[in-house]
Amino acid sequence: MSVQKEIKKITTHTLQRMKAAGEKISMLTAYDFSFARMFDSAGIDVLLVGDSASNVMAGHETTLPITLDQMIYHASSVIRGVNRSLVVVDLPFGSYQSNPSIALASSIRIMKETGAHAVKLEGGEEVIESVKSIVSAGIPVMGHLGLTPQSIYKFGTYNVRAKEEAEAAKLRRDAKLLQETGCFAVVLEKIPALLAKEVSESLDIPTIGIGAGKHCDGQVLVMHDMLGINTEFKPRFLREYLNLHEQVTTAVQAYISDVKTADFPSNAESY
Ligand code: KIV
Repeated sequence: MSVQKEIKKITTHTLQRMKAAGEKISMLTAYDFSFARMFDSAGIDVLLVGDSASNVMAGHETTLPITLDQMIYHASSVIRGVNRSLVVVDLPFGSYQSNPSIALASSIRIMKETGAHAVKLEGGEEVIESVKSIVSAGIPVMGHLGLTPQSIYKFGTYNVRAKEEAEAAKLRRDAKLLQETGCFAVVLEKIPALLAKEVSESLDIPTIGIGAGKHCDGQVLVMHDMLGINTEFKPRFLREYLNLHEQVTTAVQAYISDVKTADFPSNAESY
C-alpha cells in the first residue's frame, strides 16, 4: 500500500501565522507551467504571476501594455504546475483603476478562469474602494506600495521611493488603510530599509519586500533576475543565484556545433 504524504497547502492564513511566528515568507514570480512546477516543488511559499510578464515574457519596456486576457493565460499555466504554493495574480494596468465594479469584474475573471488564490493591485488610498469591493466578494487581495511600476510615467524613474517625509507618511497611512480594508499582505517595493522595518512592525499582516531591506516579513524577486536570465538589469537589491544567460548560451552553442558537424544525432540517438 502506498502512503501518500498529505501536502500542506499555503493559504493567506499560513502567511499570517508565519509572520506571527517570525518565519520569513519566500515569494518568486512565475509565468508558465514548467517553472511554476519547479518552484513549487522546491518549496516556494508564494508564486506571483506578476505583470512583469509584460517585460520579461513579452519584451515590453513597461508593465502597462499587458492585458487581462494575457495575465489570465499566464496564471492558468502557472496554476497547472502548482500543488502547494499560494498563487497571487497581478491585476494589470487598466483592469481596476477606473472604478470598483470594473476592479471586481476583473478579479472575478482571474479567480474563475485561472483557479488562482488571490489578486494583487498597486496603490493605497486611490484604489481603496476597489480593494473594498474585491475583498467583499471573498477574494483575497495583496497590496503593493512604494515603487509601483504601473505608475512609472507619473514617477518618471525607477529610483527609490518614499525617501522624503511626505511620501513616507503617505506610505505609512496607505499601508494601514490596506490592512484595515482587508488586504492579507502588502508588497513594499524599493523604499528605504528603515521605513520598511517601521511599516512591517506596525502591521499585523505580512510585508513582502523587493529592494526594501531585510526587515520585511518576506522577500520577492522576479525569476528572470534571480536566475540571471536578464543580463542588463543589475539593481543593488538583486542577488543572482545562477547565470542562466551564460549557461543557456553555452548549451545552445554546443548544440549548434554538434548539428553543424553532424555529431548529433549519434546512432544511439537514432531509431
Ligand atoms: O510584477 C511583478 O513582478 C511584481 C513584483 C516586482 C513584486 O509586482
